Amino acid sequence: MKKLIAGNWKMNGSLDFIKEFADNLKNKLNETEEFDMLICPPSIYIPELANSFKNTMVKIGAEDSHFENKGAYTGDTSISMIKDFGCEYSIIGHSERREHYTETNEIVNKKAHKAIENNIIPIICVGEKLDIRENGNAVSFVKKQVEESIPENANDGNFIIAYEPVWAIGTGKIPTPDQVDEIHKSITETVKDKIGNADNLKILYGGSVKPENAKEFLSLDSVGGVLVGGASLKPDAFYEIAKASI
Ligand code: PGA
Repeated sequence: MKKLIAGNWKMNGSLDFIKEFADNLKNKLNETEEFDMLICPPSIYIPELANSFKNTMVKIGAEDSHFENKGAYTGDTSISMIKDFGCEYSIIGHSERREHYTETNEIVNKKAHKAIENNIIPIICVGEKLDIRENGNAVSFVKKQVEESIPENANDGNFIIAYEPVWAIGTGKIPTPDQVDEIHKSITETVKDKIGNADNLKILYGGSVKPENAKEFLSLDSVGGVLVGGASLKPDAFYEIAKASI
């Protein structure tokens, strides 16, 4: 299976930035790359980015999407809206949304359910905070997040899990490959217990992924790709990370 190199732009970007970014990245990419590439920009820039990468291997996704298709939810974006502009994926339950918008596993589950129902692949994010890791409870904490966040309509190929330890996001601190491997294997077992099969499950690692450390994670069999924040805003770095998957 090709590894997925996914970028999460968070609240960054501008029209000028997208033009420069897309020109630069398209110059590097060729259509026979042995990885899959995805970029998730702020929702307002989805149309511009989708247009910039039209007819290329780069897929576009959203950073979040709602559990209803329409209605009185000021400021939100629905699955049908992101689909209108060619999105194939949506990040769901990123730790920043869990933290700043108090998104619970229950809400994540509903959002993922709606995505799957509409053939959008949810990238369901899980991960422990530092105190949980230090108390030795990371595996059980993530297991519970996975159990509660995976919706009823999930099968092993229609969603992705991203393991992002909160203490590694934007900090430059990273877990050891053994720590990542331990959590990813436990996630696989949890998914198998819950839906009966995990053969096609893809689990991404995320948190301070950079060109210098990408190979450490991407060379693990349990790692199906990476979710990249800061470094996904630099075309050179993002492409180098992708190359480290081969
Ligand atoms: P980072 O962010 O690569 O900047 O640590 C990762 C993420 O939040 O998805």
